[in-house]
Amino acid sequence: MLMWIHPILQTLAVCLALYVLYLGWVRFRAAHLGEENAVFAWKRHVLLGKIVLTTLSLGFIIGLGAAWLDWKRVFITGHHYKVALLMLPLIAFGLGTGLFMDSVKAKRTALPLAHGCANALLVLLALYQLYTGINILRHMVLS
Ligand code: HEM
Ligand code: HEM
Repeated sequence: MLMWIHPILQTLAVCLALYVLYLGWVRFRAAHLGEENAVFAWKRHVLLGKIVLTTLSLGFIIGLGAAWLDWKRVFITGHHYKVALLMLPLIAFGLGTGLFMDSVKAKRTALPLAHGCANALLVLLALYQLYTGINILRHMVLS
């Protein structure tokens, strides 16, 4: 039962991340492509973004815990754990820049762009984790 917590939690976080990215995309179109009728759901983006990034971080720790319970070892899942380690600085950057832009409001171009690019890359990596994670379930956990 315990082994399912990590895959289910992270899969939900990946789905929610796609929606948060969509909200950010609306902002991107308004800010950089001059689409005047694109309305950015600021508060929703911030709230759901925080939930996604916190869940991904907690999920990282729960994944390590599950590996320890199953195998008494960690860092044995190849690309899955390596990409997870790569995600950590991106999560910190996305959260740090997001919190800053939300609390110190100003007209900006470069920082939102850096925030958006880093987080878009994070979502891509999270989708890859879905793929590698399902393979781990099939070949290392359920077999
Ligand atoms: C999965 C997580 C996230 C994704 C994929 C994401 C993506 C994006 C994207 C693509 C933009 C548009 C950037 C631009 O216009 O150049 C944006 C803007 C923004 N994001 Fe996020 N974001 C995430 C998490 C967060 C979090 C956790 C916060 C706050 C704590 C946050 C706060 C903001 C704010 C305030 C803006 C507007 C900045 C501005 O235009 O001045 N985001 N985000
Ligand atoms: C999206 C972000 C994700 C992150 C940051 C992440 C992170 C991790 C980490 C750090 C481990 C420990 C690996 C090791 O010690 O070698 C792990 C294990 C694992 N992950 Fe993920 N993961 C993510 C998503 C997923 C998803 C979506 C699935 C499946 C649908 C999944 C399935 C697994 C499985 C089955 C294990 C082995 C745990 C066990 O022993 O039962 N992961 N993950």
